[in-house]
Amino acid sequence: MPLRIGFAFNQKPAEEEEPPSPPSHDLYAEWDDPATISAVADALSLAGEVILLEADESFPERLRRTSPDILFNMAEGLYGPNREAHVPAICEFFGIPYTGSDPLTLALALDKERTKEVLVSRGVRTPRWCLAEDEVRAPSRGDLPLPALVKPLYEGSSKGIDAGALCRTGEEVAARVAWIRARYRQPSLVEEFLPGREFTAAILGNGAEARVLPLVEILFETLPPEAPPIYGWEAKWVWDTPEAPLSIFRCPAVVEESLAEELRRAARAAFHALGCRDWARVDLRLDAQGRPHVLEVNPLPGILPDPRQNSCFPKAARAAGLAYPQMILAVLAAAMDRWGMTKPSSLTSLLTSPWSEGSEPEGM
Ligand SMILES: Nc1ncnc2c1ncn2[C@@H]1O[C@H](COP(=O)(O)OP(=O)(O)OP(=O)(O)O)[C@@H](O)[C@H]1O
Ligand SMILES: [Mg+2]
Repeated sequence: MPLRIGFAFNQKPAEEEEPPSPPSHDLYAEWDDPATISAVADALSLAGEVILLEADESFPERLRRTSPDILFNMAEGLYGPNREAHVPAICEFFGIPYTGSDPLTLALALDKERTKEVLVSRGVRTPRWCLAEDEVRAPSRGDLPLPALVKPLYEGSSKGIDAGALCRTGEEVAARVAWIRARYRQPSLVEEFLPGREFTAAILGNGAEARVLPLVEILFETLPPEAPPIYGWEAKWVWDTPEAPLSIFRCPAVVEESLAEELRRAARAAFHALGCRDWARVDLRLDAQGRPHVLEVNPLPGILPDPRQNSCFPKAARAAGLAYPQMILAVLAAAMDRWGMTKPSSLTSLLTSPWSEGSEPEGM
């Protein structure tokens, strides 16, 4: 019997299919495009029979009925701060093993303040911050860590983090907090703006075996001259297009070994502090003294398959010698090991054999 692999995802609607009245233009920014979904499905099909389970309203019933041996989870969910926890919680309800972090970690990582509280309690550096519920209760100016990066409390994919997120005065912060409240209906995290270099660390595996893949540096000098040095909405979605990709990543990052080790240590500490499993990406930035701080943790990292597109996790995997399908299968293998499942021999051998991008099946 082949391994039966469920695959949970949320597919971005084609533009013309989007409902006419979503609250914002970026409602589906975190969802995956058809090319990513088919590349992941193709990779999983090398290890078994793939059962596509779009994470829509009928997902619980289809999951129960098909009852896969394991589920590969890539579903971001739609509404609320616990949206990423829905699919793994349903898997737990039905007793079905799944890849990646559990509901607690997924909900925790989406809430950037709770994440920071955990990091601080574990001695992991993260920028100073305060929470602003709304304009009226915005903290007094003396407490504001200015200049500040103001962001929605529980969004990803740089939703709400455009050029206006970098605030230099109390007035700018108050206006931004009001804008976030009106647009995303949630509090804002007002965070000390760190001016140093930025890196992201992709992590694969579990426990002592969790390995940090080659670090990626974000090169702000590739942004338009008037742009603030942040890897925000415009850099991810406006200035970077498939036709004209920004050369914004350097991987492996060129850093002295002592700094690289500090970055890896902070990333691993954040991964473990939050209880991440199988894979995650940790975003880090240096302060004015050159010390690494953790900005946030992404337990469901973006994974665009086309090597010409900017996507940190696949880029780091490639630099580590893992082709895209191998990266997906490495996540599956880590999860199967963790659940004490016997891996098919095809999976083990695919992970150990060399694989050049050129030899990948078409469409990858
Ligand atoms: N405190 C900060 N100091 C300096 N820059 C920051 C700070 N917080 C965020 N940024 C910039 O804004 C970018 C986006 O922030 P963050 O990673 O918190 O948002 P996100 O929407 O969760 O991103 P992702 O696309 O990784 O999910 C960062 O990559 C960084 O360039
Ligand atoms: Mg980020």
